[in-house]
Amino acid sequence: MRSLLPILLVVPLSLLVTTRSGRDEPEPIYMDCPTNTSYTPGSSAFQANLDALLSSLPASAVASSGFATNVITGATPDEQAFGLAQCRADVNASTCRSCLDASVRDVATNCPGQKSAMFIYDACLLRYSNTSFFGVFDFRDDKSFLVYRCITRRQNATQSPQLEWWPLSSLLINLTAKAAYRSARRFAAGSVQATPSVTFYGMEQCTRDLADNDCNLCLSRFLPFMPYDCDRTQGVRMFHRSCSVRVEAYPFYSAQAVEAAMAPVVPAPPGGEPPVGSASRRQGNHFEAMGKVAPLTNAEDVSYFHIECVSDTNYTRGGAFQSNLESLLSSLPSAAASGGFAENATGAAPDQAYGLAQCRRDASAPDCSKCVDTLAQKLSSGCQGLKSAIAVASPCMLR
Ligand SMILES: *[C@@H]1O[C@H](CO)[C@@H](O)[C@H](O)[C@H]1NC(C)=O
Ligand SMILES: *[C@@H]1O[C@H](CO)[C@@H](O)[C@H](O)[C@H]1NC(C)=O
Ligand SMILES: *[C@@H]1O[C@H](CO)[C@@H](O)[C@H](O)[C@H]1NC(C)=O
Ligand SMILES: *[C@@H]1O[C@H](CO)[C@@H](O)[C@H](O)[C@H]1NC(C)=O
Ligand SMILES: *[C@@H]1O[C@H](CO)[C@@H](O)[C@H](O)[C@H]1NC(C)=O
Ligand SMILES: *[C@@H]1O[C@H](CO)[C@@H](O)[C@H](O)[C@H]1NC(C)=O
Ligand SMILES: *[C@@H]1O[C@H](CO)[C@@H](O)[C@H](O)[C@H]1NC(C)=O
Repeated sequence: MRSLLPILLVVPLSLLVTTRSGRDEPEPIYMDCPTNTSYTPGSSAFQANLDALLSSLPASAVASSGFATNVITGATPDEQAFGLAQCRADVNASTCRSCLDASVRDVATNCPGQKSAMFIYDACLLRYSNTSFFGVFDFRDDKSFLVYRCITRRQNATQSPQLEWWPLSSLLINLTAKAAYRSARRFAAGSVQATPSVTFYGMEQCTRDLADNDCNLCLSRFLPFMPYDCDRTQGVRMFHRSCSVRVEAYPFYSAQAVEAAMAPVVPAPPGGEPPVGSASRRQGNHFEAMGKVAPLTNAEDVSYFHIECVSDTNYTRGGAFQSNLESLLSSLPSAAASGGFAENATGAAPDQAYGLAQCRRDASAPDCSKCVDTLAQKLSSGCQGLKSAIAVASPCMLR
C-alpha cells in the first residue's frame, strides 16, 4: 500500500464542517498550538505585545484588502510579537472580519500562554510567533506540509462526480502559475470542463508575504499528491502554512467574486501589458507544451502529458547542476516504481538537484517506472538548460 508522507492527515468531510452547531461561528480547519513555546501568562511583556498585536490585526487586514502583517517590538528582542492575518481573497470585508475576530478568540481559548500558533479557517488564517516568519517558505520542511483532506460524500456518492487527475492537473498547473506570478493577492480560481456534464473547480492561494517563486514552489508541492491519493473522491483540500488548494466537482465559489479577487491591484495602463512585471517577463520565456508521446506497450499510456518549464532558472551546460540533474532523473523511475512515490536530492548546494515523482495508485510498478522515465526524457529535451520543470501525465507526474 502506497502511503503519503507520514505527517499527512486524511480526514473525512464530516470533520470539515464550517459552522459550529447552533452558532454562526467559523470552525478552525487546523490548529497548530505548540506546547514548547510557553510564556508565563499575566506577568510577561510578551503577552502585552501579543495582545496588542492580536487586537490590531483583524482591522488592519480588513483595511488592506484582506492581508496584514505586524510586529510589536518590546524593550528586548524576546518580547517581540510577529503576526500575520489573511482572508481568502474572494470573501467580502464582513466575512473576513468575523473570521479573523473568531480566530483571535479561538487562539485565546485554545492556545493560551504560547508564543507561537497558527489557526486556519475556510475564510481566513491567523499566525503569530515571537520570531519572524514573514516571507519564509521552507521547501524541504515536510512537517510544514500540514493538512491533506480527501473529501468523499458518501450520501449520493454515485450522483456526485469524482475527480479525475486529467484534466484537473492542467487546471491546477495553470492556477499555480496565475496565483504565483499574475495575482497581486497570490490567488487564483478557475474551472475546467471534464465532460459535457461535469466541470471541476479549483482555487489556490499563498500567504501574501511569499515571494512569487516561493508561492510557485509551495503550490506545486501539492500537485504530486493530488488527487492520486484522493483517487475517486469528490473533493480535495490541502493546507500548508504558506499556501492552500481546494478542488471540487461543483462551483464552491462565486465566479464574480473570484474574478474581482484575481484582478491586479495596480490598474493596467490603457491598452498596455499586464502590470505585474514578473508575469510579462516570464511569459516571453515560458515554454509549455501539450502533446503526444509513444504509448506504453500495455495498460494506461502517457499519451496526454503536460510539461511546464520555468525559464528564469537556467543552468550552465556541462556544469555540476546538469550532471546532478541527470543522475537524479535516472534514479527516480525505479525509485518511484517501488513505492509509487520517490523524492531524491543529488549533489550539494548551490548545484543540488531536487526531484520527486509520483504514480497513480493503480499504476503497476513497470508502468510507473515507464511513465516516470518517459516524462524524464520529455523534460530533458523539452526543458533543456532549465533548473525547474514539472511534467504531468495521466499515470504519473515528475517534478
Ligand atoms: C518545539 O518542538 C518542535 C517539534 O518538536 C520543534 O520543531 C521546535 O523547534 C521546538 N521549538 C522550540 C522553541 O523549542
Ligand atoms: C521564542 O520563544 C522560544 C520558546 O520560548 C525561545 O526558545 C526563543 O529563543 C524565542 N525567540 C526569541 C527571538 O526570543
Ligand atoms: C458577505 O458575504 C457573506 C457570505 O457570502 C454574505 O452572507 C454577506 O451578505 C456578505 N455581506 C456583504 C456586506 O456583502
Ligand atoms: C441526492 O441527489 C438527488 C438528485 O441529485 C437529490 O435530489 C437529493 O436531495 C440528494 N440527496 C442527498 C441526501 O443529498
Ligand atoms: C492551461 O493553459 C494552457 C496554456 O495557456 C492552455 O492551453 C490550457 O487549455 C489551460 N488548461 C486549463 C485547464 O485551463
Ligand atoms: C535562459 O536561456 C534562454 C534560452 O537559452 C535565454 O533566452 C534566456 O535569456 C536565459 N535566461 C537567463 C536568465 O540567463
Ligand atoms: C538518489 O540518487 C542517487 C544517484 O544520483 C542514487 O545513487 C540513490 O540511490 C538515490 N536515492 C534514492 C533514495 O533513490
